[in-house]
Amino acid sequence: PLPRPYQVPLPIPPVLDPVRHEAGTDFYEITQRVAELDIIPGVRTPAWTYGGSFPGPTIVARSGRRAVVRHRNELPEPTVVHLHGGHTPADSDGYPMDLLLPTGDAGGASHAGHGAGGLARGSREYTYPHEQRGATLWYHDHRHGVTGYAVWQGLAGFHLVHDEEEDALGLPADDHDIPLMIVDRSFGADGSFLYPRADARPHSHGVAAPYMNGVLGDVILVNGAPWPVMPVEATRYRFRLLNASNARRYRLELDPQPPGGGGLVQIGSDGGLLPGPIAHDALDVSPAERFDVVVDFSRYRPGTRIRLVNRLGSGSTADVMCFDVTGPAGESRPLPERLAQGPALDPGRAVATRTFHFQLRPDHGWSINGRPYEPGQVLARPRLGTTEVWRLISDFHHPVHIHLDPFQVLSRDNRAPGRFDAGWKDTIDLHPSQAAEIAVRFTDHPGTYMIHCHNLEHEDMAMMADFITE
Ligand code: C2O
Ligand code: CU
Repeated sequence: PLPRPYQVPLPIPPVLDPVRHEAGTDFYEITQRVAELDIIPGVRTPAWTYGGSFPGPTIVARSGRRAVVRHRNELPEPTVVHLHGGHTPADSDGYPMDLLLPTGDAGGASHAGHGAGGLARGSREYTYPHEQRGATLWYHDHRHGVTGYAVWQGLAGFHLVHDEEEDALGLPADDHDIPLMIVDRSFGADGSFLYPRADARPHSHGVAAPYMNGVLGDVILVNGAPWPVMPVEATRYRFRLLNASNARRYRLELDPQPPGGGGLVQIGSDGGLLPGPIAHDALDVSPAERFDVVVDFSRYRPGTRIRLVNRLGSGSTADVMCFDVTGPAGESRPLPERLAQGPALDPGRAVATRTFHFQLRPDHGWSINGRPYEPGQVLARPRLGTTEVWRLISDFHHPVHIHLDPFQVLSRDNRAPGRFDAGWKDTIDLHPSQAAEIAVRFTDHPGTYMIHCHNLEHEDMAMMADFITE
């Protein structure tokens, strides 16, 4: 039986302490292992975890300060770690063939073909220079053909980057700056995560054919707890919303809305702070997107219970979590009208225009430009330091993600960008039969990177391609 909503307190993922520092660099260690989690009260759920928790521990980094994360794999299968939104050298970007084999795996010879990062046994280091703006990033598994399964089993965590521009704004901080990882999951009678793997044997690729549109669950978890409740003071909070679901899209709304509406004030998107805040009644969030929002609970009377609901869900998936406003109104500093500075990309200076079709092909299944993913087959070779315009054309909903550098949305169907397209994005929620134009600019790091659909079942069923920056 499903638990009732609003019984479990909202967990906050633990923040990972570095194991040591050196000038300019923080060193971290994470062991990937099976752990038994308490998700549904009274039930044990075996999960694949980063460091024993789901979400994994949060890495809190600073712009310009390097982090080196050593991952050790004690799971039963190989893994690949990708820092989503990271401006990362290719050998640490988590190319889907750059396997980290489990400790004690003597094999490996059969794992043919790999990228710049190569094959590693037992443990490996990923280096993140953080030469990028402050932003809400996240890390997750990215193994070829198995990403949907591995993430569903629990391999996802937050990785936050702070910078000085953000510090100067006096935004809600510390215990008023809360990451919220939203996922849907299904559970078996024994408490395990249910996932329709193509083939029950370990090492099999992909999802069972009837689920190729994406795997959905009937339990909504926020930071790993089912429909949790969070007591809040009557003041401003910053919530870093992340949709880490395999395939589910959400339309998030506060219920009730505060008087006058506009309860979700967006201050940032995938790639960091916006030029200025945007008040929304509701937010459409596709897989992998982040919306950084401020909610001012002083607009509600103490004692109010405010539900965060999903207008695209029905039954158990229409609820997400709730906030109980406690106590008297606290101090709340007004939100600055100007947030981040910084120029936009100029599409007038684009040196190339490329078109990518995201389609279901009767012959190949999910594909980009008619090709199912094949490691090493290169779809584009953008020059570093130049601006390009990419046209993304889709048949169904496809949340398209591009590695290495964020982009800006120029148009959708030749009209102005949508309400949710503001700022620097690394994932765009493409709608059915839509053509969007984006401006991209890869600044540095030559090597092989990915463009793919972040519906993880579409990705595993080959809606992915390599591009090489040079
Ligand atoms: Cu969040 Cu290529 O992935
Ligand atoms: Cu897709």
